[in-house]
Amino acid sequence: MNVLTSLSASFGEAFAAQNLDPAFGEVVVSGRPDLGQFQCNGALPAAKQAGRNPRDIAQAVVDYLQDRPEFGELSLAGPGFINIILDDHSLVEYASSMRSDRLGIDPVATPRRVLVDYGGPNVAKDMHVGHLRATIIGDSLTRIGKFVGHDVLGDAHFGDWGTQMGQVIVGIKERMPDLPYFNATITDSYPNDSPVTMTDLQEIYPDISERAKRDPDVAEAARLATLELQQGRPGYRALWEHLVTVSQASQRADFHDLGVDFDLWHGESTVHDLIEPLIDQLRTNGLALESDGALVVDVAEPGDKMEIPPLLLMKGDGAYLYTTTDVATLQMRIDELGREEVLYVVDARQALHFEQVFRVGRKAGLVPPEAILEHIKFGTMNGPDGKPFQTRKGGVVKLRDLINMVAQAGLERLAESKVVEYSEEEQTEIARLVGLAALKFGELSNHRQSDYLFDLERFTSLIGKTGPYLQYAVVRTQSILREAKEAGWQPDDLIEPSVEAERRLMLELLRTPDVIDRAWSTRAPNHIAEFAYELAQQFNRFYEECHILREADLARKTSWLSLVELTGRTLTLLLDLLGIEVPDRM
Ligand code: ARG
Repeated sequence: MNVLTSLSASFGEAFAAQNLDPAFGEVVVSGRPDLGQFQCNGALPAAKQAGRNPRDIAQAVVDYLQDRPEFGELSLAGPGFINIILDDHSLVEYASSMRSDRLGIDPVATPRRVLVDYGGPNVAKDMHVGHLRATIIGDSLTRIGKFVGHDVLGDAHFGDWGTQMGQVIVGIKERMPDLPYFNATITDSYPNDSPVTMTDLQEIYPDISERAKRDPDVAEAARLATLELQQGRPGYRALWEHLVTVSQASQRADFHDLGVDFDLWHGESTVHDLIEPLIDQLRTNGLALESDGALVVDVAEPGDKMEIPPLLLMKGDGAYLYTTTDVATLQMRIDELGREEVLYVVDARQALHFEQVFRVGRKAGLVPPEAILEHIKFGTMNGPDGKPFQTRKGGVVKLRDLINMVAQAGLERLAESKVVEYSEEEQTEIARLVGLAALKFGELSNHRQSDYLFDLERFTSLIGKTGPYLQYAVVRTQSILREAKEAGWQPDDLIEPSVEAERRLMLELLRTPDVIDRAWSTRAPNHIAEFAYELAQQFNRFYEECHILREADLARKTSWLSLVELTGRTLTLLLDLLGIEVPDRM
């Protein structure tokens, strides 16, 4: 039972009774808790539309609803705001409805088929901070969408078809020229084992890509190798298979350690066979045009505020690009996967790329008009110097190193608190979860489009707006329940609150479904992060004021235990939606 939905319905009815649009009845959480718990501001726009006095409309709404037992108090404020205070009895009823499965939150009535494209690792390349942001935000959105009730697929969109592939092939050839993959007369029966490991690739790729930038011969060899790979040269394909397998295994493991597992690992190469027919289609309908030997699609539109250059579909030599595979992938996601919404969680710097891809998709009719395509942009994670986060030597920070770094920081925090003696094994596991919580919450408590400062010291703190603070709040609820249980007390029916901190905690809990909906509709997990923190704070106030285990009134005590349980379950859900796991103790 969603309190805002149900209040909005009642208020909508009151507006409709005055022949006004029921949408004006929207009820929100009060911005002025000193005046009311909820408010309805619809009388002002309604008055404007109907040419009437807002206070009269608001008064009529209040008169209409006044006698319903659900309301403790309805009052007018200012030019026509309505402040709402629930009767404690109905507050308890709403809160009690959360004691069921899924906190009483129903899945959406009409689920949508959604695909979230995030992570975006590339074959042979180390993942870096940009991939980290995409991964954390994308994973959270995927979790939120699934919880809301949509049919969501998370896809890693593995970068396995671009120029770096040709570069790596050349790099391996330099080192091991005698491998059968490079002998054009051999066309099958290649070795089963990969000639390189991920560690080799981590050395080969940066070296060759650096040289390709400086040395035109290397660049030319790589260009040719990429083209031959795409056109199906058997040895290159066979070698490429190994590169894909080796990279994917290592990256999957990295993601898994972050608590992220994708539904799909489609690659750019997955759509290879769709590209030719797609290009033919774009030629036939006159969208793909020759330009300096290359094939482009013009996507500029009359109202454009900035110049949108044509999308490069095929290079002069016939090679495909990042844009080509993205257009074909979009087509596949709509046609084969039947997706109604495709969300791309990718660095804001790729905005133009996606604008071009979406426009081609729309212009060519690959995407139906009602389908939703969104680039879910994010900004930069900065280091202490305010510049994009780097290693001490000024290099790119590898994802793997970052994971180790936060786990280490978690361990240090744990050593500081030294409350209980844990086995070393348990300590390592708790430290890992604490470190990840610090990292993910540090990321997700900011709006994704703002740049933020990577501050491990602050992120891992047990006080303040941090992941570990929230984990700790859940652990505390669990230990209260455990202690109560040992003394023979179990959570039971909620009863009407006796103190304000208790009432406030119930009200806070009731916001949950609305916050989750908002995070999904605005694609912004920070709403959930923010709310989880507010809830934890409210819980702590309640806990300080209400001495649960010492309470003499059994009905009150067990009602409080219910509130503790409900808070623990709610926080656990919210953290889970952020991809944060809570240890049993810490
Ligand atoms: N592999 C790309 C990169 O590292 C990100 C892929 C994003 N997704 C997409 N459909 N283009 O930048």
